[in-house]
Amino acid sequence: MRRRSLEIERETKAKYGWGLEGLWALTSTVVLINQLFLGSLMTVVVGFNWPVEHDNTVGVIVDGELVFASEEERWTRHKHSLNEPPTNALRQAFLFLRRKYGIKPRDVDAYAVNFDPQLMALSWRYVWWRSAFKKLIGKDVKLDLFQGNIIGKGLGVLRAGLLYLRGDYLDLARRFVRFAIHSIGEDAPDNIRVIPVPHHLAHAASAYYFSGFDDATVLTVDGFGEFEATVVWRVRDGEFEKVASIPTVYGSLGLSYEEVSAKIGYDRLEGPGKVMGLAPYGKASKYYEKLKSFIRHDDKYYPFRFDVPGKWKIKGTGVDYRQPYKIIANSLYPGGRVPWDVHGDLHPDAVDLAWAVQAVTEETMLHLAKWAKEHTGEDKLGLAGGVALNAKANMVIHYSKLFNDMFIFPAANDAGGPIGAAAYVYEHVLGGKMKRQRLKTVYLGPEYSDEEVKKVVERGGWNAKYVGDDVNEVVDLIVKGFVVAWYQGRAELGPRALGNRSIIADPRRKDMWGVVNRIKGREWWRPLAPSLLEDDASKYFIDPVPHQFMILMYKFKPEMCEVVPAVCHVDQTARPQTVNKEGNKTWYELIKAFKDETGEGIIMNTSFNLAGEPLVETPQDAIKSFALGGFKALYLQGWLIQK
Ligand SMILES: [Fe+2]
Repeated sequence: MRRRSLEIERETKAKYGWGLEGLWALTSTVVLINQLFLGSLMTVVVGFNWPVEHDNTVGVIVDGELVFASEEERWTRHKHSLNEPPTNALRQAFLFLRRKYGIKPRDVDAYAVNFDPQLMALSWRYVWWRSAFKKLIGKDVKLDLFQGNIIGKGLGVLRAGLLYLRGDYLDLARRFVRFAIHSIGEDAPDNIRVIPVPHHLAHAASAYYFSGFDDATVLTVDGFGEFEATVVWRVRDGEFEKVASIPTVYGSLGLSYEEVSAKIGYDRLEGPGKVMGLAPYGKASKYYEKLKSFIRHDDKYYPFRFDVPGKWKIKGTGVDYRQPYKIIANSLYPGGRVPWDVHGDLHPDAVDLAWAVQAVTEETMLHLAKWAKEHTGEDKLGLAGGVALNAKANMVIHYSKLFNDMFIFPAANDAGGPIGAAAYVYEHVLGGKMKRQRLKTVYLGPEYSDEEVKKVVERGGWNAKYVGDDVNEVVDLIVKGFVVAWYQGRAELGPRALGNRSIIADPRRKDMWGVVNRIKGREWWRPLAPSLLEDDASKYFIDPVPHQFMILMYKFKPEMCEVVPAVCHVDQTARPQTVNKEGNKTWYELIKAFKDETGEGIIMNTSFNLAGEPLVETPQDAIKSFALGGFKALYLQGWLIQK
């Protein structure tokens, strides 16, 4: 080995006139200079949701790698950030780029958004221009439309009128970016490139570019897009080919799930996740038979299709696309919603409706996956779109063994769309090559230094001590039956807490199920998930594969449900996170220490937030939620704080 390196040293000297050490020093200097002054040498794409909708997120690709992502909800503290432009998330992205790479906003090569207005009906484009405009003005975003003297202002009015008529919401996107840049005291370039990527292509790109697959079948299953709701893709070496596309009026598993959830008593964004947890309390019923009667799996034109008889018409806006699904939900359960208190006793109609929509979704997803495999010939599967958050339907595909490997983008909903859009633009518009590896981490939020955390702890005058990576005391508290809040590092992208913003408890104690749900203000019947050592996955589950992102369920081995009853749902399933040392060292150490003490390498893990709130983001948020919530202790990036 030593001889070989000497040879290389000699060859290098002969060829370049200096040795490896010289080359190393030079390379390091270039990297440093690049970091300090030449951010522009790197290729940077920033993706964000546009027009403003829900789950608004900013994702950043630098030289083919996803380096940052943050959801606006974490900053506004409103779950799903409905109608909130991602101003805070975009500012944070700029600050991160400046601090980490010396990249300034003027060095950003392009911005990518996850809807293409060209593909929309004119009426819908106009609706979205108007709503984007209102939302920006409502959030005090200065659009600089009317500037200068009376002529300038007049021209501004004329221009705004033309954009309004044309429904050009990309112009509003450029103005929004400029506003965010100015708000951090930077100069904005004259030319801000905003490149639209079709909605389903953006989802497909998120499922493909981070899967590590060269060739794959990709399914994007969603509420809607510009005009389609479900798309089957064949992707070969970065080339996306649409194999089937089902228009929203015929193929929206997302909207059908949302409308049935509304009947059960839940809103359209929060509902489906809760209804998935409610479904196992129900059974096959008239609702299931009725819902099934609306869907054809053997359609002549599409892989599947909702078929709603009678006279009804779509006028062309997003709202109208819901119409067939409203008709279906009303025919299942006429009139208003099921009259029940979601925190009280289960209602037979609520649970049977939930069972029905979950069963039909699972059956249709499985049918779609079979159809897709037959028509693409690819044996690896990528999944994205809001319906891919349905970890139970994903489980059905997993156990079918239809595909050799499966990757679901962790932010399968619209929080992942802009990230896919940015990756697509990086390759297909800027000519780069994405680093085609399996996504290793979703810890992509802003960084908080130990100094910053220390200041927050000291300022509050808490009963705190620094324990660093020694998490044994945390384990002692859990084993004693306390609920502990856990915070460290960069926040998780996507809806799941994965060991950086978590609430933890002992899964062996059945009472913890009720205790944690009460602390978080959740319905008593909702399941709680486990995080476990990757090596122990087959001890607890039937046929598991390593899965770090809690977007795929597994069936428990029945006997293990008795060992950890607080994380085993009534149908003996769970949505686990498998944890290894490389993925999250301190989190791994915690579960390992719990195993050393109890013999079980598995803990209960749910998101660190109070009722109705998104995940905590900053150390200050963590302290605030800790102060208000019923937790015994908080582990805050090395500090153990006790009440
Ligand atoms: Fe979507």
